[in-house]
Amino acid sequence: MDENPHLLDLRQTAEDSVPENSLRPRVLSEFIGQSDLKHKLDIFLSAAKQRGEALDHTLFCGPPGLGKTSLAHVLAREMGAQLVATSGPALEKAGDLAAILTSLNPRDILFIDEIHRLNRLVEESLYPALEDFHLDIVLGQGPSARVMKLNLPPFTLIGATTRAGLLTSPMMGRFGMVLRLEHYSPEELQMVLVRSAGILKCRIEMEGALEIARRSRGTPRIANRLLRRVRDYAEIKADGVITAPVASAALEMLDVDKRGLDAMDRAFLTTIIKNFGGGPVGIETLCSALGEERETLEDVYEPYLLQIGFLNRTRQGRVATELAHKHLGLQPGKSVPTGEQQMTIF
Ligand SMILES: Nc1ncnc2c1ncn2[C@@H]1O[C@H](COP(=O)(O)OP(=O)(O)OP(=O)(O)O)[C@@H](O)[C@H]1O
Ligand SMILES: [Mg+2]
Repeated sequence: MDENPHLLDLRQTAEDSVPENSLRPRVLSEFIGQSDLKHKLDIFLSAAKQRGEALDHTLFCGPPGLGKTSLAHVLAREMGAQLVATSGPALEKAGDLAAILTSLNPRDILFIDEIHRLNRLVEESLYPALEDFHLDIVLGQGPSARVMKLNLPPFTLIGATTRAGLLTSPMMGRFGMVLRLEHYSPEELQMVLVRSAGILKCRIEMEGALEIARRSRGTPRIANRLLRRVRDYAEIKADGVITAPVASAALEMLDVDKRGLDAMDRAFLTTIIKNFGGGPVGIETLCSALGEERETLEDVYEPYLLQIGFLNRTRQGRVATELAHKHLGLQPGKSVPTGEQQMTIF
């Protein structure tokens, strides 16, 4: 998904990558929010450490910027293990995977980002490695080919994906834990921002942090990104302190509205309302109307709009809700009931 400019925008950019790394939580206690998930991880971590074993294979799924990569690093640190990071598209041949696996030490963590993009052959060669810690290496070709069994140290695979639905079921079945990250509440993001402001040495008031948090689409990466921009504004247009009014003025300037929607979110909803009577409208039609990739709309824009109740997904397509109409100050669309599913008419 890196080739997509909008996904790239929400991921690490050259400008932001150094601060992003420095802002990553390092241990589980520094990792804010996701309390259910942290509670489970805490138990599994303690049990694995007590037994002196590798952690069970773990999959983190959820929208971009919620902390999947950060958690993989946190787990490695908590286990006192080395983390070797790669990604689905980077592993082109089974040999690439073999080279990495044979370099691991016992209890090390292999982190595969975008694991849904692993090619089939590499994925199949991973199965015995995950189940019995061995690799089947084929030597030679044709009738004289032999399979050599190579033992591996017990290791932990941590996979991350924004698209759990694209994982094959044999792959899914080999994870001992599948953990889903949820969007953060404004109060949790407020804590993320206060922590980040401390690291960046910028002065922020609690109310200022809350103002940014409310407009960060439930996503720590966006909160940190907005913090850097608001800090610039505070330094040039105010006395350097991020208060609520300073944050609000800076975010208005950045075209981020009170619910954190940017120009593209608003275009998405406005198109459904104005061009398609509020929906339902098929995702492919929306892609053409907006000139966007389907993956960008589904991975970057929709999860938050769904979560705040501005969008519904139905079998017939996307529907803008009453809340979205109100937020944008637009007249309700006249959606017509179709098929077996009754559409809302407001
Ligand atoms: N729970 C958290 N507490 C504090 N900061 C966090 C938390 N989660 C994420 N962050 C911040 O958000 C940034 C993005 O997180 P991360 O890179 O782990 O997301 P991701 O889920 O791997 O995203 P992607 O799907 O794009 O790879 C981190 O660098 C970190 O600064
Ligand atoms: Mg990541």
